[in-house]
Amino acid sequence: MVERRYEGRVALVTGAASGIGRAVALRLAAEGAWVLGCDVDADALAETGKLIADAGGQSTMAVADVSAQADVDRIVGLLPDGRIDLLANVAGIMDFFLPVTEVDDATWERVMAVNVTGPMRLSRAVLPLMRAAGGGAIVNVSSIGGLTGAVAGTAYVTSKHALVGMTRSIAALYGADGIRANAVCPGGVATNIGRSAVPKVAWAYERLEKAFARTTRTAQPDEIATLVCWLGSDEAVNVNGAVVASDGGFTA
Ligand SMILES: NC(=O)c1ccc[n+]([C@@H]2O[C@H](COP(=O)([O-])OP(=O)(O)OC[C@H]3O[C@@H](n4cnc5c(N)ncnc54)[C@H](O)[C@@H]3O)[C@@H](O)[C@H]2O)c1
Repeated sequence: MVERRYEGRVALVTGAASGIGRAVALRLAAEGAWVLGCDVDADALAETGKLIADAGGQSTMAVADVSAQADVDRIVGLLPDGRIDLLANVAGIMDFFLPVTEVDDATWERVMAVNVTGPMRLSRAVLPLMRAAGGGAIVNVSSIGGLTGAVAGTAYVTSKHALVGMTRSIAALYGADGIRANAVCPGGVATNIGRSAVPKVAWAYERLEKAFARTTRTAQPDEIATLVCWLGSDEAVNVNGAVVASDGGFTA
């Protein structure tokens, strides 16, 4: 039986075209939310909208780059009557497992722009709306790379640790407004993120591979989406500033 925890609620989901973001968008819509999904991949984003409609859900899909302020302004402007109950910052990219001695400025800046600046811009835009409404929730998808160092390159690990810090800062500063911010740290998930996960520096990847041997299992996107949707729901009313691993025991 599908729960309807989001009946009448409005949710904004980034990275909604693929992987975890698509799974979050589908699950929220199935639970009654009106979903505003965004992504840079127009075709795959339209497919997410179609999947939601075919299942009887309601959504609007808007092509947008979360790192661009103009795009953030545009998608926040699409929220009905400025209402938003949940912001799920899911969009993210990897960094080709580049160690700091080899990372180029373009990769560093793009990873930080998408994984850190994007969630900041969206949080900055929606928090005043949530405060005015008396509450809301933010769920940031970080990574085990936000908890440990040996899972990706330096830019990705730095960005995901930063997202954990942003989550805690928002929780501490806006909890008194009825707003909760929590982070999810997945381990390996079967998605399309491999596009930016092709190793470019052999020696660094060989060192990291020794740590990957600890991986217990590869998750399906919906196994992460269920945690995101719980954290964003009223059931998690007492959970604020939490950083929750969903990694099959990788960080145990
Ligand atoms: N797959 C994993 O093993 C894994 C593990 C830990 C954390 N994560 C995190 O989960 C999140 C989702 O990744 P995924 O695994 O579903 O990958 P994915 O590549 O399947 O989906 C990510 C989506 O984000 C979109 N995107 C990228 N840059 C964007 C931008 N600037 N603006 C808007 N959308 C953008 C992509 O087009 C894509 O549709 C990421 O933040 C990632 O770091 C993934």
